[in-house]
Amino acid sequence: MHKAEEILNDLEIEFSTELDKAITNLKDTLSLDQSKLEFNNVKVKYFSKNSALFAILKDLKNIPDINERKKIGEKANKLRVKLTEKLSSSEKAFTLKILESQLKTEKIDPTRPGIKVSTNPHQHLISSTIGRIEDIFTSMGFKVRNSFEVDNEYNNFDALNIAANHPARDNWDTLWLSDGNLMVTHTSSMQNRILAQDNSLIKEIIIGKCFRNEATDARHEHTFHQLEGVYLAKKATMGDMLGVLLEFFEKYFERKLKYKFTPDFFPFVEPGAMLSIECVICDGKGCKVCKFSGYLEVLGCGMIHPKVIANAGKNPKEYSGFAWGIGIERLALLNNDINDIRYFYSNNLRFINQFN
Ligand code: FA5
Repeated sequence: MHKAEEILNDLEIEFSTELDKAITNLKDTLSLDQSKLEFNNVKVKYFSKNSALFAILKDLKNIPDINERKKIGEKANKLRVKLTEKLSSSEKAFTLKILESQLKTEKIDPTRPGIKVSTNPHQHLISSTIGRIEDIFTSMGFKVRNSFEVDNEYNNFDALNIAANHPARDNWDTLWLSDGNLMVTHTSSMQNRILAQDNSLIKEIIIGKCFRNEATDARHEHTFHQLEGVYLAKKATMGDMLGVLLEFFEKYFERKLKYKFTPDFFPFVEPGAMLSIECVICDGKGCKVCKFSGYLEVLGCGMIHPKVIANAGKNPKEYSGFAWGIGIERLALLNNDINDIRYFYSNNLRFINQFN
């Protein structure tokens, strides 16, 4: 039997056992928060891009025997449907159990005095982080604008040189709307509009929410903010891009940082790169957050692809530019020693009020 088949045979049982355990533990041993985490860990383990099932589906093309490939492909897809159904029914049961447990423990005492509303209101950490980022880029001569939350397929993909059948589309797990539009998966969806402006020099940052249909974990949310930077001129170089990015990071983290600049692929830039900065948590010594590498990947960037410039109605022989995309929650995490991105939108006032 092919190794992938053996794994598929075991997966269903393992998944059901772990899911049932997470639900049983809710009642027997764990607190509500721990139970939610345990349930979510099972979800991530079996449905994220790092899951064994996803790896088998991705690897199908490498199975040389066509009949075997077909057999394993069918089996893997059937299992995916089965696991998804089981997860969805368990999720309902789990939510109900949480509710029952809350109803039992969280009794309302109508005689208790109310919670005093803070007399010192303050911004959410993400809003203040956005404010700081905007100040830094405006001091460097960049104009600021907000991105759209709903956009069309052309702006999110086609204009960015990501054709309908391009495998890179899978990198952005898209939430489609019934009218054919979509929830933007990245702020790069604004690039076409920005580049189409009738200016010979464009220096803008765009900030906004992005939405991805993906499992959450300590570093991934389904809804998060990105900052897109777009620079277009008669002549722009990668050196200019690095200068802008390093100046920003030094201002943001208030110190000089070591960095690594490595090749990366995004269809809308050529060449593309990943910028990693020295881990600000351990000062580059190596810790859990940087996976003991001393460096943290903070953004994707590159020279704007000539096709993207042409799609915006400009001549790529006459213009060149660069663009980059950073996750704002990731920047806020790093600057405030927070170890889980999910805290930001958990509505936990004890967490939020720390950043007054
Ligand atoms: C992009 O979205 C590209 N549009 C970035 C880009 C722009 C590249 C311009 C080149 C030129 P990526 O999927 O890697 O790339 O996301 C960029 C950043 O967004 C990541 O480095 C990370 O900081 C943040 N990010 C991505 N996914 C999530 C998520 N699920 N939760 C929180 N932050 C995320």
